[in-house]
Amino acid sequence: MGRTYNFSAGPASLPIEVLNQAAEEMTDYQGSGMSVMEMSHRSKIFVDVAAQAEADLRELMGVSDEYHVLFLQGGATGQFAGIPLNLTQAGDTIDFIETGAWSKKAVKEAKKYCNVNVAASSADSNFDHIPDQSAWQLSDNARLLHICSNETIGGVQFKNFPSSSVPIAVDMSSDILSRPVDVNNFGLIYAGAQKNIGPAGLTVVIVRKDLCGNARDITPTFLDYAQQADNDSMINTPPTYGWYLAGLVFKWIKEKGGVEAIEAQNNAKAALLYGAIENSNFYSSPVAAGNRSTMNVPFTLADSALDAEFVKQAEARSMFNLKGHRSVGGMRASIYNAVSLEAVQALVSFMSEFENERG
Ligand SMILES: Cc1ncc(COP(=O)(O)O)c(C=O)c1O
Repeated sequence: MGRTYNFSAGPASLPIEVLNQAAEEMTDYQGSGMSVMEMSHRSKIFVDVAAQAEADLRELMGVSDEYHVLFLQGGATGQFAGIPLNLTQAGDTIDFIETGAWSKKAVKEAKKYCNVNVAASSADSNFDHIPDQSAWQLSDNARLLHICSNETIGGVQFKNFPSSSVPIAVDMSSDILSRPVDVNNFGLIYAGAQKNIGPAGLTVVIVRKDLCGNARDITPTFLDYAQQADNDSMINTPPTYGWYLAGLVFKWIKEKGGVEAIEAQNNAKAALLYGAIENSNFYSSPVAAGNRSTMNVPFTLADSALDAEFVKQAEARSMFNLKGHRSVGGMRASIYNAVSLEAVQALVSFMSEFENERG
């Protein structure tokens, strides 16, 4: 089988140019006679790979010297614990906006370590929107406000970020590098790599330096931001190959014209797919119009009995991983940076064909 159209929510499609370059360099990275996978993380050649990746990410996102950029392990899930353990003391409060399955998990984990105030939640409507900021019940004494910029399962995305008197910690796992963001609006940005950055196993944390250095005594050393920053994210052996691949992805984004150009492409893909859903009586989006994600597009069929047939026919046309999450039902097309416009065009044309036949 050749390359498929891969609509996986994560681990997800990676740019073919990146995979080809990695393949070329697999056994002999730049004349070193070894794979990046086989090198000491302390070697000059790998330290250069790591530093270049950080420099490129800083450039792409406009990250100032007031922030650490850390390349860690443990996934975004690790940061659900890392955030309270680094940025709060027992008894402190974090305000959470609960907009889907992932922010709900962040709430559950934080409760082990600090007070949690769910200032707003859309759980009552199966996480189909982002509650309006005017209705948020923020606490007076919160240390942080936590949001998830894009809910991967529900397909709900913040289009504008809130203003806040306390630092905002944002889970950007599924939309980092998909659009420009002003990093200075945030105290901390974190993301598991396996959607827009690279392979699973790497977690990026961008954190304001002045917020670090007060981790609790019990904080596992590898989750301690200040200690990781002091050690260039190498307290223990880092995920070297993932870091290298992330660096190739950052270069790829730069070659595409940076995050602005990627955003234009993402908007075009999303407009095409949502347009197809809107213009049909057969497909519908469960998400409120103003909060629809440009990255994860859930949609339902008029008759759920046709779901399995839709998936089967899509696969016959080389379109994979379209089955929706069980909590939402229907389908979900994840159209991250590396998913081409051509893939979305193929999907939209199949959707129309399927509707004409079965709708
Ligand atoms: C928005 C969001 N947050 C957190 C996670 C959990 O990430 P990880 O599996 O890397 O711990 C995911 C899923 O990958 C996600 O999509």
